[in-house]
Amino acid sequence: MILEAVKADITKIDYVDAIVNAANESLLGGGGVDGAVHRAAGSKLLEECRTLHGCPTGEAKITKGYDLPVGYVIHTVGPIWHGGSWDEERLLSSCYYNSLKIAADRGFTSVAFPSISTGVYGYPVEKAAKTAVSTVLDFASKEPGSVEKVIWACFDDRTLAAYQAEIDLQKGTI
Ligand code: APR
Repeated sequence: MILEAVKADITKIDYVDAIVNAANESLLGGGGVDGAVHRAAGSKLLEECRTLHGCPTGEAKITKGYDLPVGYVIHTVGPIWHGGSWDEERLLSSCYYNSLKIAADRGFTSVAFPSISTGVYGYPVEKAAKTAVSTVLDFASKEPGSVEKVIWACFDDRTLAAYQAEIDLQKGTI
């Protein structure tokens, strides 16, 4: 499993099978990456999202990508950070696991994630990166040979540094 962190606007990435959207439980759009994904995909994305009737925190659902350069969007709903004793770590981990499960079930080999929950939802980015990378590596050990490449599209330097540091640490590449 190749893990990479890049500085990028996830809506511009065109070299993966699916991008993941950091949505809210309504799946009807919002700000941040959710707003960017819906703006770039166009109104047909919202039309399809309406048919999904929401998504509980920690779970994921897939739609087409429409006007996005990628074919599919996996919408997942991260936990809101409440200090760390409200099951946030497990819920964030299940966002990554469930998104990768959908990708693997569809035979996708590459997925790009944003830094789920670390914006509006306030999850500390270093803690989120640790959970994100360990969950992806755990998935790779349990479902070998499915998804081959995971990218984190980081919107700022601090987020990029956090994910790069966790990848180096957990992949033992330092
Ligand atoms: N590409 C990549 N990353 C982005 C982009 C983009 N175009 N826009 C924002 N980000 C980054 C943010 O800088 C942050 O690092 O995505 C990360 C997640 O931030 P949010 O988008 O605020 O997502 P989250 O913290 O999970 O909060 C979700 O915000 O937008 C609403 O509808 C959404 O209610 C939901 C909540």
